Amino acid sequence: MKTFPTGFTWGSATASYQIEGAWNEGGKGPSIWDAFTQIPGKIAEGHDGTVACDHYHRMEEDVALMAAMGLKAYRFSIAWSRVMPTGRGEVNEEGIAFYSRLLDALKAHGIEPWVTLYHWDLPLALQLELDGWRNPELPDHFAAYARLCFERFGDRVKHWITLNEPWVVSIMGHANGVMAPGRVSNREPYAVAHQLLRAHGKAVDVYRREFQAEQGGQIGITNNCDWREPKTDSAADQAAAQRALEFFVGWFGDPIYHGDYPAVMRERLGDRLPQFSDEDRALLRGSSDFFGLNFYTGLYAANQGEETSGESNPYGNGGISEDQDVELSADPTWKKSSMGWPVLPWACERLLKWIDRRYGHPPIVITENGFAQDNPVVDGRVADPDRAAFITTYLEACHQAITDGVDLRGYFVWSLLDNFEWACGYTQRFGLHHVDYATGRRTPKDSARVYAQIIANNGLQ
Ligand code: GAL
Repeated sequence: MKTFPTGFTWGSATASYQIEGAWNEGGKGPSIWDAFTQIPGKIAEGHDGTVACDHYHRMEEDVALMAAMGLKAYRFSIAWSRVMPTGRGEVNEEGIAFYSRLLDALKAHGIEPWVTLYHWDLPLALQLELDGWRNPELPDHFAAYARLCFERFGDRVKHWITLNEPWVVSIMGHANGVMAPGRVSNREPYAVAHQLLRAHGKAVDVYRREFQAEQGGQIGITNNCDWREPKTDSAADQAAAQRALEFFVGWFGDPIYHGDYPAVMRERLGDRLPQFSDEDRALLRGSSDFFGLNFYTGLYAANQGEETSGESNPYGNGGISEDQDVELSADPTWKKSSMGWPVLPWACERLLKWIDRRYGHPPIVITENGFAQDNPVVDGRVADPDRAAFITTYLEACHQAITDGVDLRGYFVWSLLDNFEWACGYTQRFGLHHVDYATGRRTPKDSARVYAQIIANNGLQ
């Protein structure tokens, strides 16, 4: 029996653009994802999120699915342009009412909401009028939007996450252009990351000064990081793996826990890495009540050296790969999900311990972990043993980390439902529930039952 600590948070996660649909209903303004998905060639099979899982109209049914699993917590995101159609100024009361009903439904089932304020769907008006996250004014608009959410929802929300994965917004959105807004640059990712960090700091400041004492909640940020294992035990490869982790999660974790970017980034990026003002630094240091981590996979890291180029890197457009001088590769024997991501439970334990050491033993919450594979519905049932094994083995690794002293407080499966998987459209299925997109029908997969049993046991048998 591998029992987890009492009160461990067992959850599942989604994000607004990936599930809601109703892209132009109920007074919602368009977001950069509504626009980006219309550019031919950007999304697999030309898919988009106009309908998605139709969660906007099926919210009660989806909360019932959570209740049936015995879920303790549900992580979802608010679509900024549903509550503020142009990102600033006017409030859309119909949008507020939707999230209010969702919060009430969760409360009625004793499910704790974990609310992400920004999961990539920036109001389109802010992109077109202000250049989006490249603009140093964006953090103030984000803080104003955050204040609205604290005001309207803070009586029922005790766990806030400012941003989901600023790394993805910076790299996939502004370095290799795979995600909205589709920019390609070697300079913008660092400028955008800087504004995202400032936005996080300002929103946390608003919460702490104006709401936290009265509402009694917690606020943090969610970062993603893939593990980097030294390819050989040479000093050069060990240094490469460390450097890759610092360029990945250190980029965002260090300013929040230590007050500045990692020294290795400063050395290699020169004036492309912005400087924090004293005011920014003060807002950022200590600005997360927990370390939110989205973890899926990892790769070997080797020192790139002169003879290799960044082109073979999975994320490579030259830019960040060359900045790091790290060559990434997979072991051909590793099992992979349909995303092509290696399944590495041992890497989960190593990354948790790396974060624990680097940031002084913070409370950590795995805000996403999950496995993509297409498993058909046969006679009303979905057999997905690989997903169930993924969840179980990653949780074994989490349990080991806890046993060894890591303060892991919670775990959220990505995702509650099959949904719109960004550039992959609906071709990738991460859900504990199968979604038939033609009818909207949800079917619990076997993994949903396995996870429900884990929750009921507060651990693994
Ligand atoms: C994360 C992201 C989610 C989901 C997941 C699977 O990076 O936060 O929205 O798409 O990856 O790719």
